[in-house]
Amino acid sequence: MKRPVRTVLLAALALCVGCSLESTEQADLSAESVGALLVAHRGASAYAPEHTMAAYQLALEQGADFIEPDLQLTQDGVLIALHDLTLDRTTNAREVFPDRFREELVRGETVRRWYANDFTLEEIRQLDAGSWFGEGFEGVQVPTLSEVIELASGQAGIFPETKAPEVYGDRGYNMEQLLLDELERYGLHRRNADPSTPVVIQSFSAESLKILRHDLASDLPLTFLVSGPAADEWLTAEGLAEISGFATGIGPTRNLLLEHPDAVDLAHEAGLTVIPWTFAARGPDGSASAIEEMAHFLFELGVDGLFTNNPDLFPRTPPEEGS
Ligand code: G3P
Ligand code: CA
Repeated sequence: MKRPVRTVLLAALALCVGCSLESTEQADLSAESVGALLVAHRGASAYAPEHTMAAYQLALEQGADFIEPDLQLTQDGVLIALHDLTLDRTTNAREVFPDRFREELVRGETVRRWYANDFTLEEIRQLDAGSWFGEGFEGVQVPTLSEVIELASGQAGIFPETKAPEVYGDRGYNMEQLLLDELERYGLHRRNADPSTPVVIQSFSAESLKILRHDLASDLPLTFLVSGPAADEWLTAEGLAEISGFATGIGPTRNLLLEHPDAVDLAHEAGLTVIPWTFAARGPDGSASAIEEMAHFLFELGVDGLFTNNPDLFPRTPPEEGS
């Protein structure tokens, strides 16, 4: 089902977020003008196994503006929605393909890992990506990016993340080109191509975003994920100005923004959107505090959206005073 009001807001974002970053256009990037954006982190991953069609479908039903697939590559070069480089945590690869591991030394111990890129799509299709999460999800599959796009099409945006692009580069794949090719198959490789299905590409790798923006001349909105030891420097005026040379937004951790609340204004001044991660209800009684936390970021810190595992808890309006 289409949601006309949000579609208008998404169109505004798609129009503005990737445009040249003149200060006069900055106001159009803010949550105040386009409405804060709900990005369903790995789908509605609090309620269904992350990165499965069940999680993405539920996220749409819960009103997500964007669904988020992290991307990995199969041996035959197909982009799939999967967070980890390996299949170990979220599938039964160990049982289905007991001999197809690599051994690695981790803190002096030899461990076995089932890398997604060592398997073809046909093989990955044989895996159960739902049982680890809980009853009722047995047999759900690892989806392709293509399936995620088809699901979202006309209903919500997609926020794909190039995961470990340097690992895939070392193995001879061009993840960024493959992503643009896949988007082009659906006519979504250009900014604002389909206002009902906006696309924002994100990465922890500045290099990956620079390849997209400069080498491949993509005009799609790009979000640089900020965390780790260099984060403090990225969140200075100088760091943000540098980011604005290859991205249109930042995705900092929520803790970083609590430490650097001024970074929201600084990022906006640099023409960058701010969409922090990851917000989730923690524990069985965590809903109220999750809503309160999200409201703080949206309505007091002034971020432009956020990644959450609980799309149903995303507050669209500020809490009423005194409540
Ligand atoms: O992409 C935003 C957030 O998802 C980054 O963390 O590890 O969940 O991909 P991760
Ligand atoms: Ca991610």
